[in-house]
Amino acid sequence: LNDLAQRRGKLYFGTETETWEFNDTTYLSHLNNVREFGALVPGNSMKWEVIQPGRYEWNFTLADQIVDLAEHNGQHMRCHNLVWHEQLPGWLVNGTWGKENLTAVMIDHVVREVTHYKGKCYAWDVVNEVLNDDPNNGTLRSDMWLDIIGPEYIAIAFEHAARADPHAKLYYNEYDIEFKGPKHDGAMKVVKMIQDAGVRIDGIGFESHFTPSTAPGLQEQMDCMKDFTDLGLELAVTELDVRILLPDSPEELEQQETVYVDTVEACMNTEKCVGMTVWDFWDQNSWIGPLTWDLYYNGYGEADLYFANWTRKPAYTGIESAL
Ligand code: XIL
Repeated sequence: LNDLAQRRGKLYFGTETETWEFNDTTYLSHLNNVREFGALVPGNSMKWEVIQPGRYEWNFTLADQIVDLAEHNGQHMRCHNLVWHEQLPGWLVNGTWGKENLTAVMIDHVVREVTHYKGKCYAWDVVNEVLNDDPNNGTLRSDMWLDIIGPEYIAIAFEHAARADPHAKLYYNEYDIEFKGPKHDGAMKVVKMIQDAGVRIDGIGFESHFTPSTAPGLQEQMDCMKDFTDLGLELAVTELDVRILLPDSPEELEQQETVYVDTVEACMNTEKCVGMTVWDFWDQNSWIGPLTWDLYYNGYGEADLYFANWTRKPAYTGIESAL
């Protein structure tokens, strides 16, 4: 898929991965195939709770393994993420912070992590999911960053990421902005806020965690992409998967194919969409499925390109012919 995407002018077709998945030899052979995947993004191991488990404790070992693999294979890295409201360590969440202290802690985290991977990340997701979950509410999420530092935490994070790695593309990554509405508009306001602060932002990430019944169609996705590229940004589809209500049916798998293909085509038709990343490619290891129903998307699964038995989904062949 990467080969096909690159032939048509894209930088990469990539996948999310995690080191525990390297144990499956079939999985690893697909992952190591640069003609299939031209970019890797760690699902968890670059997140705050892993990288900085204590105030003065840093652990880059898991993420380093992914970066080394990508380097060895000649794959790009999407680095994910620096400032988010989830997967934060206890010392940070339970600490009593004033604005000045918390700002210093955030800057320290950003600068150290970006510096550690300086020159190795094609892109950094500097801030992640800063808007409220509700797509009809386009305002900033109330979390420790907003509540203690204020909205300027976003531009501050970008400013220091830029300082630590002048060549990495700096992204704001968000979900439910792939269709029109208050959240989509809110994300455009966030971009303008960063730009108005005179700080560099290069890209917007469309997460694109979809379901067949709610996914935006091709035209709407293209229109939404244009709104952001008109602001001067490049764009990437960053976490594409299409979960279906189990048990599956041929109709559902066909609808799933349509959603995957629409999303890939929206990127192909958008010059400044540089690449697409699936949030893993094998149902067995997806973050969505029976094993995690108590955590997210109860009842859903089979979101990826390959079934657990390694058969290719209609979605896979659909993307192949769309590319
Ligand atoms: C998910 C991981 O895939 C899971 O393993 C983890 O338990 C929770 O986070 N949006 C994001 C990603 O930006 O970081 C999330 O990744 C999926 C939703």
